[in-house]
Amino acid sequence: MRPDLSVLYADHLDTLKQRADEALQRGGFDALVVPSGRLHFQYFDDRDYPYAVNPQFKAWLPLVRVPDSWLVYQPGQRPKVIYLQPFDYWHVVPSAPSGDWVEHMDVAIIRKPEEAAQHLPKDIARCAILGEPQSALGDYVPNNPVPVVAYLEYHRAFKTPYEVEMMRAASRIGVRAHRAAERAFRAGASEFGIHLAYCQAAQQDANDLPYSNIVALNEHGAVLHYTDRDRMPPKPVRSFLIDAGASFDGYACDITRTYSNDTSDEFQALIDAVDRAQLAMCDQVRNGFDYRRLHLDAHLSLSRILKDFGLITVTPEVAVETGVSSAFFPHGIGHGIGLQVHDVAGFAESDRGGTLPKPDGHPYLRLTRALAPGMVVTIEPGLYFIDMLLEQLKDRGLGPSVDWARVDAFRPFGGIRIEDDVVCTDGAPINLTREAFAA
Ligand code: GLY
Ligand code: MN
Ligand code: MN
Repeated sequence: MRPDLSVLYADHLDTLKQRADEALQRGGFDALVVPSGRLHFQYFDDRDYPYAVNPQFKAWLPLVRVPDSWLVYQPGQRPKVIYLQPFDYWHVVPSAPSGDWVEHMDVAIIRKPEEAAQHLPKDIARCAILGEPQSALGDYVPNNPVPVVAYLEYHRAFKTPYEVEMMRAASRIGVRAHRAAERAFRAGASEFGIHLAYCQAAQQDANDLPYSNIVALNEHGAVLHYTDRDRMPPKPVRSFLIDAGASFDGYACDITRTYSNDTSDEFQALIDAVDRAQLAMCDQVRNGFDYRRLHLDAHLSLSRILKDFGLITVTPEVAVETGVSSAFFPHGIGHGIGLQVHDVAGFAESDRGGTLPKPDGHPYLRLTRALAPGMVVTIEPGLYFIDMLLEQLKDRGLGPSVDWARVDAFRPFGGIRIEDDVVCTDGAPINLTREAFAA
């Protein structure tokens, strides 16, 4: 039975109010003021960039397309939404406020952005205003007080049950679209065609998605953030790596799958090995486990695979120690996810600030905190055949650690990444991605 979202949303709001009460008290402020953000325009042009809502705003409200609106919260009072519904016949304007949130908030409709000022708290010096500089309205200039932001962002890592449901819904959409993408790949579509099949199945356009789709055939899988999307398929098609997400009411999923065109070939066997290792890593998403440990353990387990497939000549332990594993797995094992695909405060030592360092030699790890119930993280190990990084091994005298004939055999397939979104709980982790694929 699906949970009652209206009950979960009410509880979520209570949690946000408690967090805001504490954050304001720490910063010495009386009110939290959060603009939804503005449209930005291209220089020397009248065209706007895609609008991106302020994450501090969508934390409170499932509204992602209401620019120039505001959220105001004062401890002990109902939150207030200042909601811009302009008189505008050029664009679609936000529809009348509706949804579970409406009964929990006071709503003031405005017709012009400037009208917001009359609904904002009068004593501006007592307001913590969280937003981008461009959101300034007269003297209401975002000040983003450090103690307030540090507290809110640190605790945002701990998702409420409502937020987990939002991410579960995003995962279901993402998986539906991943299935459509695999079908398009098997039917011989180009990268561009696969991307369109994905968007069609997700019913989401580029600006709805939480990040740009990575749709990579053959060697393109070795470009970690490949977003070119060739209009014609290569000949022959050997492999397919897709890293693509979906959004639901402002929450993201982040999913990667890799496929071989010939499911009986050695590349498929390598995918299967990474998939098995990835599942074991997902099982490490446990209360108290240091995410840095998870990342370093991943290097060892991926090095075992490299050894099993004859790609390295040294032991897995030596491959990790010497940095050989980093040439094949050159990114972090994952990151927090939620309102943003790469959620904030990944390095926060506490809710008062401070930084938890990355392990030496691992500059791209985005999360260094210990895992705790409510955290949602991605687990995304990969193995790639990236000439630039492999050449650097030779330059460092580590050429003999690699079997170059085996690298030559795998290079045309690009690379492998398998990525799931996993919830840390008091007990066994919940894998939102596998859950959606199993449904
Ligand atoms: N899709 C970006 C990432 O996996 O972090
Ligand atoms: Mn990711
Ligand atoms: Mn991803």
